Amino acid sequence: MQFIDDLDVSGKTVLVRVDYNVPLKDGRVQDETRIQASIPTLEYALKHNARLVLCSHLGKPKGQVRSELSLAPAAERLGTILGKAVALAPDCIGEETLEMVRSLEPGQILMLENLRFHPGEEKNDDEFSRELARMGDIYVNDAFGASHRSHASVVGVTGHIPSCSGGLLLKKEWEYLSKVGDPERPFVLIAGGVKVSSKLGVLENLLRRVDAMLIGGAMANTFVKAQGFSVGTSRVEDDLLDKAREIMQQAREKKVQFYLPVDFMLGQGPDDESRAGVCPFQAIPEHLMALDIGPATCTLFAEVLHRAKTVIWNGPMGAFEFRPFSQGSRNIAEIVAGLHATTIVGGGDTDSLIHELDLQDRFSFISTGGGSFMEFLEGKTLPGFKALEECSSK
Ligand code: 3PG
Repeated sequence: MQFIDDLDVSGKTVLVRVDYNVPLKDGRVQDETRIQASIPTLEYALKHNARLVLCSHLGKPKGQVRSELSLAPAAERLGTILGKAVALAPDCIGEETLEMVRSLEPGQILMLENLRFHPGEEKNDDEFSRELARMGDIYVNDAFGASHRSHASVVGVTGHIPSCSGGLLLKKEWEYLSKVGDPERPFVLIAGGVKVSSKLGVLENLLRRVDAMLIGGAMANTFVKAQGFSVGTSRVEDDLLDKAREIMQQAREKKVQFYLPVDFMLGQGPDDESRAGVCPFQAIPEHLMALDIGPATCTLFAEVLHRAKTVIWNGPMGAFEFRPFSQGSRNIAEIVAGLHATTIVGGGDTDSLIHELDLQDRFSFISTGGGSFMEFLEGKTLPGFKALEECSSK
């Protein structure tokens, strides 16, 4: 795969696929992390006198024009960050947009309107891909967060444009996440979140690679129950109890240290009022729920983490959006932030927690991907990466 810094972009019109699928509130961008993440690529292209055409999706308009999902707020915020005008085209394809592209001067930027206003985007439609490809001489994919989607702006377009490359964000994601293949050891995975089902692929793939796994969040309940303990009214995926036992068996066979919580913070339910104290994992009362890992678990996890040289973390340790059940996730964030190790985090919830605690500068890398981060960790080849490789080698 080649990257933008391998190409001569000077005087060229560069079509950059960014991921500006950002949260909006009252027509304004609420979290600009993804826009900031695209800046190195855009500055690189501008410094080398390129004409920039940006395209992205936002939300799920399902092929319909929905004005509340216009990319106007993102274009405006980008303009503020770069300190220059970012015009917004009325559409992402069509003659009017093409005219706007053709009238760009080197160093100018045009943002195309939401790709998903056209059904052809998600269908990876060939005609739509061809139309989109007319908007540039060179295609750059810098949308790591969308690279697991076989959509026209990620895959189809690469078949119709003379030259393709990855952007600098894609390069950084690729470099950090590739450490999974050859990590400095001990290599530890911290997996949290609600469902074992959504993490199965990651657990199974990383069992072949890590030295230890630390399991928190509601998904830990399924493993605790699979060992024959009662978990009260806690969330459990009963259909995955056998699978959970299988994973623990595989961990034993592969000599992967597999750690479950040894105590939990309990409550009546996930809310701000019902905290009911700490309890060991084997004594959860019938009428209560495990809603966070407890202090003994934090100490245990800290011991394992202090020996680690590479850590990957996805998913909170409890119902962290409710203050009484956020301490476990906060403790783990502080512990990981203090390690002398390569620390990689991905997934929306974990990412927001780290930003809320203002710890983002103390992690080696925070992936901008959610689904794409998970698919990469599952060992899958992302369609966006595959398309770039094929295009680079043509
Ligand atoms: C994301 O927010 O994870 C990416 O932008 C992909 O969005 P999607 O799940 O709507 O395809």
